[in-house]
Amino acid sequence: MRSIGPAWQWIAGAALAAAAVGSGVDAWYAHGIAVRTDARLAETDARLSALEADLSSTTAGLQSSIVATHASLANALSEERQNVGSLASQLGSYQQQFSTVSSTVSDLQKLQSIDPQLLEKYSKVYFLNENYMPAALAEIPDAYKYSDSKLEQVIPQVLPKLESMLDAASSSGALMYVASAYRSFDSQSNLKSQYTVVYGAGTANTFSADQGYSEHQLGTAVDLIAPGLGGQLDDRFAATGAYAWLTANAYRYGFTLSYPDNNPYYIYEPWHWRFVGVKLATYLHDSGKHLYDLDQRTIDGYLASIFD
Ligand code: DAL
Ligand code: ZN
Repeated sequence: MRSIGPAWQWIAGAALAAAAVGSGVDAWYAHGIAVRTDARLAETDARLSALEADLSSTTAGLQSSIVATHASLANALSEERQNVGSLASQLGSYQQQFSTVSSTVSDLQKLQSIDPQLLEKYSKVYFLNENYMPAALAEIPDAYKYSDSKLEQVIPQVLPKLESMLDAASSSGALMYVASAYRSFDSQSNLKSQYTVVYGAGTANTFSADQGYSEHQLGTAVDLIAPGLGGQLDDRFAATGAYAWLTANAYRYGFTLSYPDNNPYYIYEPWHWRFVGVKLATYLHDSGKHLYDLDQRTIDGYLASIFD
């Protein structure tokens, strides 16, 4: 058997040789890996930078887009607000027009149901048709009349106003009663004939209307009398508490004095009160005017509200 030296020496040598060779290869490989890694790192850095640049530009783009969108939304919102404001103002104007039209329609409906003669002026110069008669009449209860035995009437819409007025006056201690109310064309004619016989035509004409010219034919006028005057309608009534109360309060119930002192038609008639509606009576009271001071056109403007 040929001796080649101890086995361990050979193995050791081989191992050393292998180690020497192996060590060189590893170094070479390690160097290669390091180079590639550097390259990859550089590449990654570059891509990262590119990504950062992209991100930065995208972020800037987004920010400017957000700012632009915000501005555009703000503009749109402001425009919408303006539109809404303009619509609201248009709506307000339509509502106003609607309410004006409604009130006109309501006035027209009221006017259709109201006798146009009720606010016409009647005196020596204004004639009320001889066939005129109120559509309806209501009897004044005894408690409000001076004479229980005499039928006295006014139109139904006026009766509650008259009763309220006389109740309020009575509560204030101002007692007064209805001496005369509605008179037909014929009854006014008879009355005027009697006065003419007793006083003569000249005097009778100063205090009594001819038939067809009396407010009493409308069913809206009343002659009021206070206790203690012997049942006479004369100017002593002007000195009573009843008259003072009427002067201060009758307008609240829609009544006005028709023939004040020095009127151009008749003698002073402090007892003769006519219903013209609260609105017109209030206007007359507040302005210190009387029905005959107004022109008919102005008076007509109050007709629709006469029973309000
Ligand atoms: N006393 C008034 C004027 C009338 O007769 O109607
Ligand atoms: Zn009268």
